[in-house]
Amino acid sequence: MKNVLPYINEHKDRFLNELIELLKIPSISADSAYKENVLETAKKIKSSLENAGCDHVEICHTEGYPIVYGEKTIDADLPTVLVYGHYDVQPPDPMELWDSPPFEPKIKKTELHPDGAIFARGSCDDKGQMFMHVKAMEFMTATDQLPCNVKFMIEGEEEIGSKSLSDFVKENQEKLKNDVILISDTGMIANDVPSITTGLRGLSYVEVEITGPNRDLHSGLYGGAVANPINILAKMIASLHDENNHITIPGFYDNVEELSNEERAEMAKAPFSIEEYKKSLDIDAVYGEDGFSTNERNSIRPTLDVNGIWGGYTGEGAKTVIASKAYAKISMRLVPHQDWTEITELFSKHFKSIAPKGVTVKVTPHHGGQGYVTPIDNKGYRAASKAYEQTFGKTPIPQRSGGSIPIVALFEEELKSKTILMGFGLDSDAIHSPNEHFGIWNYLKGIETIPWFYKYFTEMSQ
Ligand code: BES
Ligand code: MN
Ligand code: MN
Repeated sequence: MKNVLPYINEHKDRFLNELIELLKIPSISADSAYKENVLETAKKIKSSLENAGCDHVEICHTEGYPIVYGEKTIDADLPTVLVYGHYDVQPPDPMELWDSPPFEPKIKKTELHPDGAIFARGSCDDKGQMFMHVKAMEFMTATDQLPCNVKFMIEGEEEIGSKSLSDFVKENQEKLKNDVILISDTGMIANDVPSITTGLRGLSYVEVEITGPNRDLHSGLYGGAVANPINILAKMIASLHDENNHITIPGFYDNVEELSNEERAEMAKAPFSIEEYKKSLDIDAVYGEDGFSTNERNSIRPTLDVNGIWGGYTGEGAKTVIASKAYAKISMRLVPHQDWTEITELFSKHFKSIAPKGVTVKVTPHHGGQGYVTPIDNKGYRAASKAYEQTFGKTPIPQRSGGSIPIVALFEEELKSKTILMGFGLDSDAIHSPNEHFGIWNYLKGIETIPWFYKYFTEMSQ
C-alpha cells in the first residue's frame, strides 16, 4: 500500500465534510416520523459508494428500510471482502441533555480527543465508522491499489433488530458470497491501545405487562386490599437477581460457556483502571455478579436489566391512585451457546410463575439474536492484526465486547464466513446517549488502517 497518509492528508477536510453532511440527516429507524430521512440517507450512501469506485450499486427494497448494496469485482480468482455497516441511528432523546443539537454536527476537543471529535447522533454508531470503509475504498480505487473484490451491504434497521436484513441474507446467499466479512461498529480499548473485538453478546428483549384490577382505583378506598400491579412488578423484578447478583431464572445459566482460568488470566491483561472507570461514571463503587471482574461482567457473563419501567401517575404533583397496569422493558445480554429463543421462553415461563394471585402477566418478546465469538487463529484476524501493527505500531489486543450485533451470528450461519470486527470508537464516545461523538483522529486512523487489511488478507489468501 503506497501513499495512504499523503492521500488522507490531502483529502481529510473533504472526508470530514462528507461525513458531516451524512450526519445532518436524522435517519432514526425507530420513529416512523423520520421515514423520509432514512430513505434519503440510503440514497446518499448509494452515491457515495458510486463515487468511491463501486462498479455496481443498488438500493435493495425490503419490507422495511432498504439495504444499500455495492460491489467491485476485479478478478473472480481473488478473495472477496464483504463490508457491513448501518446508516440508521438511535433516537436522540433526551434532547435537553445535548450540548449541541444532535443533527447539527459540531467539532469540539475533549480530553480523550485532543484533535477534536464530531458531536452528532450516529457519528460513532455507525455512520462515522461505516463511512471510513467508503473512504478507504475511495483511496484504494483512486490510487489503483484495490487488491481484491469488494462488496458493501449497508442496512437501515440495525438499531431496530435487522429484520429485513435477515430475510435479505437468507435470500441472497450467492450475491453475498464472500471470503471474510469486515465490520466497524464496535470499539477499541484506547487510542494508544488498539484492540480487535472477538466476541459479541446475544440479546433477548422482552416487554412485560402486569394487570391488576380492571380500572385505576382510589388508593385510599382500595389500597391494601387489592394487588397493586406496580408494587407487584417491582417485587417480581427484584426477585430476578439473588444476593450474589446471579440471575434466578431456572436454566438461565445451563449453556453458559465457562472460561478457563488461563483464558480469564489472558483477559485480565488488557489495561484497565477501575478508579478511572468509576470516575468517568461518577460512581463510588461498581456493582455486579459475585466472583467476576468488571471486564468479565460486561463481556463474558450474561445479564438481565430493566431498560424502562412505567405505570400509574407520573405527572406533576400527587395523585392518589392504584394503577390497573404496570409495564417494564427488560433486556438480557447473552453469551455464546445461550440460545436467545430458549432464554426468552425460560424468562416468560419463570416470570409468569412468580406472579401472585390477583394479577395477570403478559410477556411480549421483542427482538433478539445470538452471541458470537471468533477464534484468533484465522486469516481474517491475522490480517487485521497486521494492519493495526502497521498503522498503530502495536499488536492489537483481542477483546470480547458486551454489545450486540445480532446479524453477525446469522452471517456465519448463512454465509459460512467469519466476521472481523475492527472498531475504532471508544466506550466513552457516548453511543446511544446524549453527546455521542467520534474522534477525528479515530476516523482518519480507521481510513488509514482498513486498506492494509485488504492487502494482508489478499496476500494471505494466495
Ligand atoms: N454498534 C452497536 C453494538 C456495539 C457497540 C457492539 C459497541 C460492541 C461495542 C449496535 O448498533 C447496537 O447498538 N446494537 C444493539 C442491539 C440491537 C439489536 C438494537 C445493542 O447492543 O444494544
Ligand atoms: Mn451500531
Ligand atoms: Mn447502536
